[in-house]
Amino acid sequence: MNCWKIRKLQTHNFRNLSPTVFEFVPGINCIFGQNGNGKTNLLEAVFYVTNKKSFRKNTSYPQILNIEGERPEIILQSVFGNGSDISAFSVRISENFEERFLNNQPVKSKTITSSVFINPFDSYSFHTSSTFRRHWVDSHLNLMDSEYRQVLGRFQKAMRFRNSVLSFGGKNTSSQLRAIDEQIADYSALITAKRHEFLQTLNENITPSFKAVFAEEHTLKMDLDSMFVHWDAKKIYDYYRHQENDDIKAEVTRVGIHRDDFIFSFNGLNAFEFCSLGQQKMGFLSLVFAYIEVFRYKFNSYPIVLIDDVSGELDSQRWKNLIQYLETKKFQVLITTANENFRKELERIPESKKFFIENGTLV
Ligand SMILES: Nc1ncnc2c1ncn2[C@@H]1O[C@H](COP(=O)(O)OP(=O)(O)OP(=O)(O)O)[C@@H](O)[C@H]1O
Ligand SMILES: [Mg+2]
Repeated sequence: MNCWKIRKLQTHNFRNLSPTVFEFVPGINCIFGQNGNGKTNLLEAVFYVTNKKSFRKNTSYPQILNIEGERPEIILQSVFGNGSDISAFSVRISENFEERFLNNQPVKSKTITSSVFINPFDSYSFHTSSTFRRHWVDSHLNLMDSEYRQVLGRFQKAMRFRNSVLSFGGKNTSSQLRAIDEQIADYSALITAKRHEFLQTLNENITPSFKAVFAEEHTLKMDLDSMFVHWDAKKIYDYYRHQENDDIKAEVTRVGIHRDDFIFSFNGLNAFEFCSLGQQKMGFLSLVFAYIEVFRYKFNSYPIVLIDDVSGELDSQRWKNLIQYLETKKFQVLITTANENFRKELERIPESKKFFIENGTLV
């Protein structure tokens, strides 16, 4: 398996992190420290060098630049290893540009590997917000499928244009809508087909992941809640013609794949309505681990797995299950906690490396 892992990371002017060199092991890296000391910032820096952006939504350059930094420039330097192969990757970020270097050569869009980030609040947001669910599916599918990423970008642009035509009004509205709807229909058909296919492969893995992590048999499933499944572009175009007058009255596109949702079920029941918070979190973690397996089938490589304090809502037996699962897997893990009891469980992992962060510095 071709599996790049991060070996070293040094940041300059990134949030509160000092320019310490963090040296990671290929297996489990535990990051401890009290609240507000920089554990999540460290995961964010790793995410940035692997996924080319922050995992925090709408994070702009001034937010990640160290507020006390002397130079208005962030530098992230990293070394990745894959067996005996070594590659250096660095990013220079300033207000108006971003440069990446692979083994000292400038590169445009390349990164060495991807990472997956699990946030303590994601489970709650996933189960309560359809916008979050859509974003989760889109961002994870984007990482696996560049055509999806491109077409989704074009769809979003076309939909913004469609809505601006609708809100502007005027006598050409109808002909403008017809022109843009041809594109929207093509994109919608492709996006829906890819979402549907993605869920099918995820669903083959969610239930087994739940069993592998938590040693219990439950049937978990995520379904696409969309009227457009199996519709071709022509049918979608015709549907938009049917909706045209109502959209013009409403001055906005009322129906479309941008509003489609995903339903997560636990033994056939809607997880949000029937499951406890702990079960919701176990379900969400199983979904993420299912995604990681789908990623591996596709790329013959695991992403780096960044787990930011997920101990809340889970009992100590579930912590043990999760840790045992991570120990059996071949992916690299960076896991943080501020919780003393969870920390004790993590400290028992024999082969793991432990980091203590205080004020952005390794102590
Ligand atoms: N741009 C920045 N420059 C300097 N410091 C920053 C910047 N952005 C955030 N911080 C500081 O980083 C700290 C938060 O770091 P982080 O979120 O990594 O903490 P944490 O160790 O994960 O804490 P918790 O256990 O509460 O999640 C805060 O003290 C915050 O003030
Ligand atoms: Mg944190």
